[in-house]
Amino acid sequence: MKFFFMAWSYLKYKLKAKTKHAVHSPFVFDFITKVMEPHTFKEDYATIEKQVQVLQRNMNSIETVDFGATTANTGYARRLRRVSSIAKKAGIPRKQGRFLYRLIEYYQPEKMLEIGSSVGISTMYQAKANPAARLISIEGCASTAAYAQESVSAVNADNVKVLIGQFEHVLPIALLELEQLDYAFIDGNHNYSSTLAYFELLKQKARNGAVFVFHDIHWSPGMERAWEVIKSSEEVTITIDLFFMGLVFLKKELTPQHFILRF
Ligand SMILES: C[S@@+](CC[C@H](N)C(=O)[O-])C[C@H]1O[C@@H](n2cnc3c(N)ncnc32)[C@H](O)[C@@H]1O
Repeated sequence: MKFFFMAWSYLKYKLKAKTKHAVHSPFVFDFITKVMEPHTFKEDYATIEKQVQVLQRNMNSIETVDFGATTANTGYARRLRRVSSIAKKAGIPRKQGRFLYRLIEYYQPEKMLEIGSSVGISTMYQAKANPAARLISIEGCASTAAYAQESVSAVNADNVKVLIGQFEHVLPIALLELEQLDYAFIDGNHNYSSTLAYFELLKQKARNGAVFVFHDIHWSPGMERAWEVIKSSEEVTITIDLFFMGLVFLKKELTPQHFILRF
């Protein structure tokens, strides 16, 4: 069912997605040419992707907690999973990781937040892109978070703090600690109400010019509805739908406009 939903959504996206030749906004044209298009190889990619390989080859089994599923007796569902399998299934693909790297490298956000570290694949790309920035990355499953911590140490990303706890509980703490926000990557608990609840909290701390990246905006009908609500929010000016993720710019001086771009 999910497969058919996503396939249908992808088809609609493909039919609507534009290239830079159909974009008249100078801000978005700049985004396409400076963030989306460059494909120069970077030393950091090699460092990060070596650690990704280490994770993808790690056959250790760890007990993970799934905050999206509960059981009658034990609270949240727990299951044994191989680190290799988590890295391959939950981790962001290389193309998207490199895109996040370029996004951060170009806009240079200083106060960054990640909701959903897993084993730290996206965390590494984001942290290495701007070593002068501070990144707090939140993960609920402690045994998974231990690998995120190990990954950021392996690539010498010392600007990251991995915060363990349920998003609902620790997000306000992370925001208090960061004081303000220039960038957020929301990659966990993908459902309508949680996504909008996180967005409400993030908005309150956003500095002008902040960019939020929502992963899996076409994952389910609920996520697509959440994306529409986010797009129509008063503080949001430019939005960019890249199918696997949606970007939201909170930059007052821009005229509100919504784009669907070929990724
Ligand atoms: C898709 S994975 C993140 C992948 C990671 N950003 C990457 O690309 O490498 C989502 C993570 O969010 C965590 N998670 C989901 N719901 C949560 C919640 N309510 N509180 C805390 N963690 C949660 C899961 O344990 C999982 O590790």
